[in-house]
Amino acid sequence: MIFIDACFRKPTPYTPIWMMRQAGRYLPEYMAVREKAGDFLNLCKNPKLACEVTLQPVDILGVDAAILFSDILVIPLEMGMDLKFIKGKGPIFPEPLKDESQLCALDENAHLKLTYVYDTIKLIREKLANDKALIGFTGSPWTLATYMIEGQGTKVYNIIKKEIYKNPKFIHKLLKIVTQTVKLYLEEQIKSGVNAVQIFDSWAAALEEDKYLEFSWSYIQEICTYIKSKYPHIPIIVFPKSVPAYLDKLDGDFDVLGIDWGTPMEFAKDKIGDKFVLQGNLEPARLYSKEAIDDGVQKIVDVMKNEGHIFNLGHGMIPDLPVENAKYLVKRVQELTKR
Ligand code: CP3
Repeated sequence: MIFIDACFRKPTPYTPIWMMRQAGRYLPEYMAVREKAGDFLNLCKNPKLACEVTLQPVDILGVDAAILFSDILVIPLEMGMDLKFIKGKGPIFPEPLKDESQLCALDENAHLKLTYVYDTIKLIREKLANDKALIGFTGSPWTLATYMIEGQGTKVYNIIKKEIYKNPKFIHKLLKIVTQTVKLYLEEQIKSGVNAVQIFDSWAAALEEDKYLEFSWSYIQEICTYIKSKYPHIPIIVFPKSVPAYLDKLDGDFDVLGIDWGTPMEFAKDKIGDKFVLQGNLEPARLYSKEAIDDGVQKIVDVMKNEGHIFNLGHGMIPDLPVENAKYLVKRVQELTKR
């Protein structure tokens, strides 16, 4: 698999490409299946339909890897928290966690309830071409805990940050519980057939450096060490979004570091060197224009010089991006990087 070889810095015929949120609303075929499922969560819980939308971008765009169709928030959902996806507002937990006394109510066997995810993986792996990788994923403990405490996406993170400075024990206790579940969840994904895993730390930029290392990165490291010690052949990708200033302090037992679009690839390469394969980082909005794609791809390829690189967007696909341009991007990268 080209994608897996690239994760381990082995020679490949070209630089592999996939896109975060490659399955989603910009594809009419996705909208049709979501309609059939009723809503987004029903789609996540229906292995046959979730498999179908996972395969869509592989068939339509020709990307080199599929990413499991699910959501990072199925973990808190199966820990017992009510979760709603509200049109135009995104995910909401109507009853977020308020204090330490509520932690004992979280189901520590959530990973055993996520069987619909494992069934989806088995189905995808049966149907996906042998040369295409299947990427499993999880949210980082920090990003998941933020949702569990804030109850929704936030620009200021004031509720969880208040706890970090006033009552850090509460947050560490929550992070420990979530970390344990994430380890077992990724392990089950691997046993079900994923070929690589990505840890999304979407809210990495919420914290100052030492607090980030303490409340997020240390738990990501613990997960990486656990998975690597048992499954060394499975590449681990970590994506701590928007933390360029201390990229070089983000060490650990993983293979690929995801770079967001706000961090120049050249800067990342300077800081990281050959320590990790880099994944990224085209600004997703460039997909609105073919000229912007050409220009952006060329700049990234010039920096990465076809080595130690997996091409991706620097964050997820935007729902109104033209499918035609996404196809164009994939073709452009695969041609331009041909050895
Ligand atoms: O194609 C893929 O990338 C795989 C599937 C995937 C989804 N969510 C599907 C989805 C993955 C890997 C995720 C991860 C995820 N979910 C993250 C981390 C990545 C990131 O974006 O930083 C986060 C923070 C979430 C939480 C979440 N789920 C949000 C904020 C939203 C609303 C986003 C929006 O644009 O409305 C979701 C819903 C969601 N997850 C959709 C999809 C395709 C849109 C649902 C729909 O309306 O059909």
